[in-house]
Amino acid sequence: MSTPKIGVKPDGKSNFLIAAMPFGVYLPSDNGIHACVSSWRRLEDNAIPSRAKICGAYVNSVLATMEAQANGFDEAIFLNESGHVAEGSACNLFLVRNGALVTPAASENILEGITRASVIELAHQELHMDVIERPVDRTELYIADEVFLTGTAVEIAPVTRVDHRLVGDGTVGPVARRMRAVYAAAVHGRNERYAKWLKPVYQHVLAGLRH
Ligand SMILES: Cc1ncc(COP(=O)(O)O)c(C=O)c1O
Repeated sequence: MSTPKIGVKPDGKSNFLIAAMPFGVYLPSDNGIHACVSSWRRLEDNAIPSRAKICGAYVNSVLATMEAQANGFDEAIFLNESGHVAEGSACNLFLVRNGALVTPAASENILEGITRASVIELAHQELHMDVIERPVDRTELYIADEVFLTGTAVEIAPVTRVDHRLVGDGTVGPVARRMRAVYAAAVHGRNERYAKWLKPVYQHVLAGLRH
Protein backbone atom coordinates (compact mmCIF):
# COMPACT_ATOMS: atom_id res chain seq x y z
CA MET A 1 0.00 0.00 0.00
CA SER A 2 1.17 3.53 -0.61
CA THR A 3 -0.42 6.82 0.23
CA PRO A 4 0.81 10.43 0.31
CA LYS A 5 -1.01 10.93 3.63
CA ILE A 6 0.56 10.20 7.00
CA GLY A 7 -1.43 7.62 8.90
CA VAL A 8 -2.27 3.94 9.09
CA LYS A 9 -5.46 3.93 7.05
CA PRO A 10 -4.51 2.67 3.58
CA ASP A 11 -6.37 4.25 0.69
CA GLY A 12 -6.32 1.05 -1.34
CA LYS A 13 -3.74 2.35 -3.82
CA SER A 14 -0.45 0.56 -4.30
CA ASN A 15 2.81 1.18 -6.14
CA PHE A 16 5.36 -1.34 -7.34
CA LEU A 17 9.12 -0.91 -7.48
CA ILE A 18 11.89 -3.41 -8.18
CA ALA A 19 15.54 -2.48 -7.61
CA ALA A 20 18.28 -4.86 -8.81
CA MET A 21 21.76 -4.69 -7.33
CA PRO A 22 24.75 -7.01 -6.88
CA PHE A 23 24.34 -9.06 -3.74
CA GLY A 24 27.75 -10.61 -3.04
CA VAL A 25 28.08 -13.32 -0.42
CA TYR A 26 25.42 -12.62 2.20
CA LEU A 27 26.51 -15.22 4.75
CA PRO A 28 29.86 -16.98 4.18
CA SER A 29 29.05 -20.60 4.99
CA ASP A 30 31.35 -22.88 2.97
CA ASN A 31 32.79 -24.29 6.20
CA GLY A 32 29.56 -24.07 8.16
CA ILE A 33 28.24 -21.37 10.47
CA HIS A 34 27.68 -21.05 14.20
CA ALA A 35 24.09 -20.22 15.16
CA CYS A 36 22.32 -19.50 18.43
CA VAL A 37 18.71 -19.83 19.52
CA SER A 38 17.54 -16.24 19.84
CA SER A 39 15.97 -14.81 22.96
CA TRP A 40 13.64 -12.97 20.56
CA ARG A 41 10.55 -14.91 19.42
CA ARG A 42 9.36 -15.12 15.82
CA LEU A 43 6.43 -12.84 14.98
CA GLU A 44 3.05 -14.43 15.49
CA ASP A 45 0.68 -14.82 12.56
CA ASN A 46 -1.97 -12.78 14.40
CA ALA A 47 0.46 -9.88 14.94
CA ILE A 48 2.27 -9.52 11.60
CA PRO A 49 1.97 -12.51 9.26
CA SER A 50 5.36 -14.20 9.04
CA ARG A 51 4.55 -15.84 5.74
CA ALA A 52 4.79 -12.50 3.92
CA LYS A 53 7.94 -10.41 3.37
CA ILE A 54 6.55 -7.31 5.12
CA CYS A 55 9.19 -4.58 5.52
CA GLY A 56 8.28 -3.58 9.08
CA ALA A 57 8.41 -7.20 10.20
CA TYR A 58 12.15 -7.24 9.53
CA VAL A 59 12.77 -5.33 12.77
CA ASN A 60 12.14 -8.73 14.37
CA SER A 61 15.02 -10.18 12.31
CA VAL A 62 17.28 -7.19 13.00
CA LEU A 63 16.86 -7.58 16.76
CA ALA A 64 17.74 -11.27 16.53
CA THR A 65 20.82 -10.80 14.32
CA MET A 66 22.11 -7.90 16.46
CA GLU A 67 21.90 -10.09 19.55
CA ALA A 68 23.48 -13.07 17.76
CA GLN A 69 26.40 -11.00 16.44
CA ALA A 70 26.97 -9.27 19.78
CA ASN A 71 27.32 -12.73 21.30
CA GLY A 72 29.76 -13.90 18.62
CA PHE A 73 27.40 -16.04 16.51
CA ASP A 74 26.93 -15.85 12.74
CA GLU A 75 23.16 -16.27 12.72
CA ALA A 76 20.08 -16.46 14.94
CA ILE A 77 17.43 -19.18 15.02
CA PHE A 78 13.95 -18.10 16.08
CA LEU A 79 11.58 -20.11 18.21
CA ASN A 80 7.88 -19.23 17.92
CA GLU A 81 5.65 -18.42 20.89
CA SER A 82 4.86 -22.16 21.24
CA GLY A 83 8.57 -22.78 21.82
CA HIS A 84 9.02 -24.63 18.54
CA VAL A 85 11.79 -23.89 16.06
CA ALA A 86 10.57 -21.48 13.37
CA GLU A 87 13.45 -20.33 11.13
CA GLY A 88 16.58 -18.20 10.85
CA SER A 89 16.58 -14.40 10.72
CA ALA A 90 15.94 -14.35 6.95
CA CYS A 91 16.06 -18.03 6.02
CA ASN A 92 14.26 -21.33 6.54
CA LEU A 93 15.69 -24.26 8.45
CA PHE A 94 16.09 -27.98 7.76
CA LEU A 95 17.37 -30.82 9.94
CA VAL A 96 18.58 -34.26 8.95
CA ARG A 97 17.21 -36.88 11.30
CA ASN A 98 17.11 -40.64 10.76
CA GLY A 99 17.91 -40.26 7.07
CA ALA A 100 15.03 -37.84 6.37
CA LEU A 101 14.83 -34.08 6.04
CA VAL A 102 12.69 -32.37 8.67
CA THR A 103 11.55 -28.76 8.43
CA PRO A 104 9.13 -26.65 10.50
CA ALA A 105 5.63 -26.78 9.02
CA ALA A 106 4.00 -23.78 7.33
CA SER A 107 1.86 -23.26 10.47
CA GLU A 108 4.95 -22.61 12.67
CA ASN A 109 5.20 -18.86 11.89
CA ILE A 110 7.69 -19.28 9.12
CA LEU A 111 8.08 -17.44 5.86
CA GLU A 112 7.19 -20.00 3.21
CA GLY A 113 10.37 -19.40 1.26
CA ILE A 114 10.84 -20.14 -2.42
CA THR A 115 14.21 -21.76 -1.60
CA ARG A 116 12.49 -23.97 1.00
CA ALA A 117 10.07 -25.17 -1.70
CA SER A 118 12.99 -25.69 -4.12
CA VAL A 119 14.96 -27.68 -1.52
CA ILE A 120 11.94 -29.89 -0.82
CA GLU A 121 11.64 -30.63 -4.56
CA LEU A 122 15.40 -31.22 -4.90
CA ALA A 123 15.37 -33.54 -1.86
CA HIS A 124 12.72 -35.70 -3.51
CA GLN A 125 13.99 -35.56 -7.09
CA GLU A 126 17.76 -35.52 -6.69
CA LEU A 127 18.58 -36.84 -3.20
CA HIS A 128 15.62 -39.29 -3.06
CA MET A 129 14.95 -38.31 0.54
CA ASP A 130 11.69 -38.00 2.46
CA VAL A 131 10.85 -34.50 3.73
CA ILE A 132 8.74 -34.21 6.87
CA GLU A 133 7.04 -30.87 7.62
CA ARG A 134 6.15 -30.79 11.34
CA PRO A 135 6.74 -28.91 14.61
CA VAL A 136 10.44 -29.07 15.58
CA ASP A 137 11.65 -28.93 19.19
CA ARG A 138 14.63 -26.79 20.19
CA THR A 139 16.58 -29.80 21.45
CA GLU A 140 16.26 -31.47 18.04
CA LEU A 141 18.75 -28.84 16.87
CA TYR A 142 21.27 -30.30 19.30
CA ILE A 143 20.79 -33.96 18.37
CA ALA A 144 20.24 -33.63 14.61
CA ASP A 145 22.76 -35.25 12.28
CA GLU A 146 22.80 -32.03 10.24
CA VAL A 147 21.19 -28.59 10.25
CA PHE A 148 21.14 -26.19 7.32
CA LEU A 149 19.49 -22.90 6.43
CA THR A 150 17.95 -22.00 3.09
CA GLY A 151 17.04 -18.74 1.39
CA THR A 152 17.63 -16.58 -1.66
CA ALA A 153 20.32 -14.72 0.31
CA VAL A 154 21.95 -17.52 2.34
CA GLU A 155 21.39 -20.15 -0.40
CA ILE A 156 22.19 -23.43 1.41
CA ALA A 157 24.10 -22.61 4.60
CA PRO A 158 25.24 -25.57 6.74
CA VAL A 159 25.09 -24.96 10.50
CA THR A 160 27.91 -26.80 12.23
CA ARG A 161 27.33 -25.51 15.78
CA VAL A 162 24.18 -24.41 17.60
CA ASP A 163 24.52 -22.72 21.01
CA HIS A 164 28.17 -23.86 21.15
CA ARG A 165 27.15 -27.50 20.64
CA LEU A 166 28.52 -29.37 17.64
CA VAL A 167 25.93 -30.44 15.09
CA GLY A 168 26.85 -34.01 14.14
CA ASP A 169 30.64 -34.11 14.10
CA GLY A 170 30.86 -30.33 13.72
CA THR A 171 31.69 -30.37 10.02
CA VAL A 172 29.55 -29.80 6.91
CA GLY A 173 27.49 -33.00 6.55
CA PRO A 174 26.94 -35.09 3.42
CA VAL A 175 23.30 -34.05 2.88
CA ALA A 176 24.07 -30.33 3.08
CA ARG A 177 27.06 -30.85 0.81
CA ARG A 178 24.96 -32.66 -1.82
CA MET A 179 22.11 -30.18 -1.50
CA ARG A 180 24.52 -27.28 -2.10
CA ALA A 181 25.75 -28.98 -5.26
CA VAL A 182 22.32 -29.80 -6.73
CA TYR A 183 20.97 -26.37 -5.76
CA ALA A 184 23.92 -24.61 -7.43
CA ALA A 185 23.45 -26.72 -10.59
CA ALA A 186 19.74 -25.87 -10.68
CA VAL A 187 20.04 -22.12 -10.11
CA HIS A 188 23.02 -21.72 -12.46
CA GLY A 189 21.16 -23.39 -15.33
CA ARG A 190 23.28 -26.57 -15.35
CA ASN A 191 20.32 -28.90 -14.82
CA GLU A 192 17.69 -28.73 -17.57
CA ARG A 193 15.04 -30.18 -15.27
CA TYR A 194 14.92 -26.89 -13.36
CA ALA A 195 15.17 -24.49 -16.30
CA LYS A 196 11.56 -23.59 -15.53
CA TRP A 197 12.74 -21.98 -12.27
CA LEU A 198 15.03 -19.55 -14.09
CA LYS A 199 14.37 -16.21 -15.73
CA PRO A 200 17.36 -15.09 -17.83
CA VAL A 201 17.69 -11.33 -17.62
CA TYR A 202 20.64 -10.64 -19.93
CA GLN A 203 20.79 -11.63 -23.59
CA HIS A 204 24.26 -13.15 -23.29
CA VAL A 205 23.09 -15.30 -20.36
CA LEU A 206 20.12 -16.39 -22.43
CA ALA A 207 22.42 -17.23 -25.36
CA GLY A 208 24.73 -19.16 -23.03
CA LEU A 209 21.86 -21.28 -21.73
CA ARG A 210 20.87 -22.20 -25.28
CA HIS A 211 24.32 -23.52 -26.18
C1 LIG B 1 12.16 -14.24 7.40
C2 LIG B 1 12.58 -15.00 6.19
N1 LIG B 1 12.48 -16.34 6.19
C3 LIG B 1 12.86 -17.07 5.12
C4 LIG B 1 13.36 -16.47 3.98
C5 LIG B 1 13.75 -17.30 2.80
O1 LIG B 1 12.84 -17.05 1.75
P1 LIG B 1 13.28 -17.22 0.22
O2 LIG B 1 13.74 -18.62 0.07
O3 LIG B 1 12.00 -16.95 -0.52
O4 LIG B 1 14.34 -16.23 -0.05
C6 LIG B 1 13.48 -15.07 3.94
C7 LIG B 1 14.02 -14.39 2.76
O5 LIG B 1 14.12 -13.19 2.68
C8 LIG B 1 13.07 -14.32 5.06
O6 LIG B 1 13.17 -12.99 5.06
